[in-house]
Amino acid sequence: MNSDSLARDKNACFESDRLLYRGITWEDAAQIVAWRSNGQIIRFFRSKIPLTMETHLAWFEKYRDDATRFDFMVTEKASGRKTGIAGLQNLCGESVDVSYFIDPLSQGRGFGTEAIRAISAYAFEHFKLKKLEAVILTGNCASQKAAEQAGFLLYSQTYRLEKPRKINDRDSCGR
Ligand SMILES: CC(C)(COP(=O)(O)OP(=O)(O)OC[C@H]1O[C@@H](n2cnc3c(N)ncnc32)[C@H](O)[C@@H]1OP(=O)(O)O)[C@@H](O)C(=O)NCCC(=O)NCCS
Repeated sequence: MNSDSLARDKNACFESDRLLYRGITWEDAAQIVAWRSNGQIIRFFRSKIPLTMETHLAWFEKYRDDATRFDFMVTEKASGRKTGIAGLQNLCGESVDVSYFIDPLSQGRGFGTEAIRAISAYAFEHFKLKKLEAVILTGNCASQKAAEQAGFLLYSQTYRLEKPRKINDRDSCGR
């Protein structure tokens, strides 16, 4: 992918019934940091560490050149309100993942389902993918339901055993 087509893909726009999707920009930083520091949103993320503006801006600088990840701001057509993020991760990898979240004030209105359907249709059409995955933590019933309503089928489960942690216990990366 050359730099012109990458920039075009990063700034792509598409729509669904009630929602608009456009590539995230610097101007979205405050909203993204607020969402990604909101416990109601990040409690089912793999990393539950709230995002700081500094970390986000450093990430965004690299994101602009990253051809494996595309994040779209989801906006409600009727109100123009920023409603959430839908994205694609690990493009070029073995399995491409969809990622998504909806502002807690807008949840429960079918936007999650609509956004997953739209980002999936966009991914299949634009990136010519054969399959997409949604990695959903156990207990995230809203996400499971929204993904299923958008057509995703459960095909595997991962069981995990965590070593009980003691105070001052560090993993192999020193964390
Ligand atoms: C997952 C998420 C995007 C769903 O967004 P949403 O706009 O509320 O989704 P929808 O309204 O389309 O549908 C959610 C469905 O789950 C159901 N649901 C919501 N909470 C639920 C719960 N705790 N248990 C069971 N079902 C639940 C809703 O009733 C709805 O089903 P319905 O259409 O039959 O009424 C939203 O909850 C979210 O942003 N969660 C935090 C971030 C997250 O977990 N992202 C996904 C990471 S894999």
